[in-house]
Amino acid sequence: MEYPHKSVLLAEVIQQLNCTRGYTIIDCTLGGAGHSETILENIAPEGFLLGIEQDDAAIEAARVRIARFSQHFEIFKGNFADIDEALTKTGLVEVDGFLLDLGLSSLQLADAERGFSYQVDGPLDMRFNRQSAMTAADVINGYKEIELTRVIKNYGEERWAGRIASFIVRARAREPITRTGQLVELIKAAIPASARRWGGHPAKRTFQALRIEVNHELDALKAALAAMPKWLRPGGRIAVISYHSLEDRLVKTKFKELATGCICPPRTPICICGRKPTLRIVTGRPILPTEAEIEANPRARSARLRVAEKVADAGS
Ligand SMILES: C[S@@+](CC[C@H](N)C(=O)[O-])C[C@H]1O[C@@H](n2cnc3c(N)ncnc32)[C@H](O)[C@@H]1O
Repeated sequence: MEYPHKSVLLAEVIQQLNCTRGYTIIDCTLGGAGHSETILENIAPEGFLLGIEQDDAAIEAARVRIARFSQHFEIFKGNFADIDEALTKTGLVEVDGFLLDLGLSSLQLADAERGFSYQVDGPLDMRFNRQSAMTAADVINGYKEIELTRVIKNYGEERWAGRIASFIVRARAREPITRTGQLVELIKAAIPASARRWGGHPAKRTFQALRIEVNHELDALKAALAAMPKWLRPGGRIAVISYHSLEDRLVKTKFKELATGCICPPRTPICICGRKPTLRIVTGRPILPTEAEIEANPRARSARLRVAEKVADAGS
C-alpha cells in the first residue's frame, strides 16, 4: 500500500537524536515508518528500533516499508501513554532516544472514512485506534452543551465555542449528527461571516478539539513525557515534534520542570530540597522547518521540534 506521508523535520530529528550505529531508539508514533526507516538506516546493523502505534493501517504500511530491517525492529500495537509496558514487554532496559511526531498522518487525513478531515465528507469517527470505544459522533451527540463548549474552547482555542456548541445541540435535537459534512455546515452557520474571513478554515479548530478529546491526546502526551526520562541512558535524548500550541506548551513546560534543579528559596544557605535536574534542554527555542520544507510539505508549517537530553547523575 502506498503511504502518502512526508516525514517532517527528518534530517533534524536524525541529527538531534545523534542516530548512530548500535543505538536503541523508540519511535513512539511509528505511523508509516517514515522517520523510522531513516533511523534504522543510521542505527543498523547492530541497532534496534521499537515502534509504537495504535492504528492498524499505519502498522501495516510500516511493516512493508521497513521489512528489510526485520531483525532490527519490533512494533508495539498500543498507546504511547503505555511506554513502560511497551518497553518492559520488549525486554528493553535502557534506550538512546525517543521520538514523538504527534498528531495524525497524511494517510489518516486522506481517508474520508476515518472522519479526520473537514475537507471531505465522511463518518464522524476520528479514532486513531479503531478498537477504542468513543468516536467523534459520540462526543457530538452525547456531550452536554457545557461539555461541548469546554472541549471546543480548551482544545480548539475557538472563540466561538459557545455558539458552535449551541448550534450542535439544536441540530441534534432534530436528527443525530453523523457526518463530518453536517458538522462543517453547522460550524459555518455558527461563526459570523465577518469572523470567518480570518483564521483559516472555520472548522479547523473544532475538528482539532474533537480529535484531541476522542483520542485523549493531551493525557497520552503527559503520560509519555513523565515516563520517558527514566528509560534514557545519560546523554540519551527525547525529540518531540508538535503541531499546535497546546502540545508544544506541554512539552516545553515538562522539559523545563525536569531541567530544574534546586528549588530552595533564594536565601537558603544550603540546599535542603535535594532536587536535581533530570534533563538538559537542548533546544531553548524550538527547531522549525525551513521555507523549502514547508513549500514541499505544507503539513510541516506548524511543526516545532523540541529536544532534551538526560543528564548524568540525574534526579528522579
Ligand atoms: C504524524 S504521524 C507519524 C508519522 C511518522 N513519523 C512518519 O514519518 O511516517 C503520527 C502517528 O502517531 C499515531 N499516534 C498518535 N497518537 C498516538 C498514541 N497516543 N499512541 C500511539 N500512536 C499514536 C497516529 O496514529 C499516527 O499514525
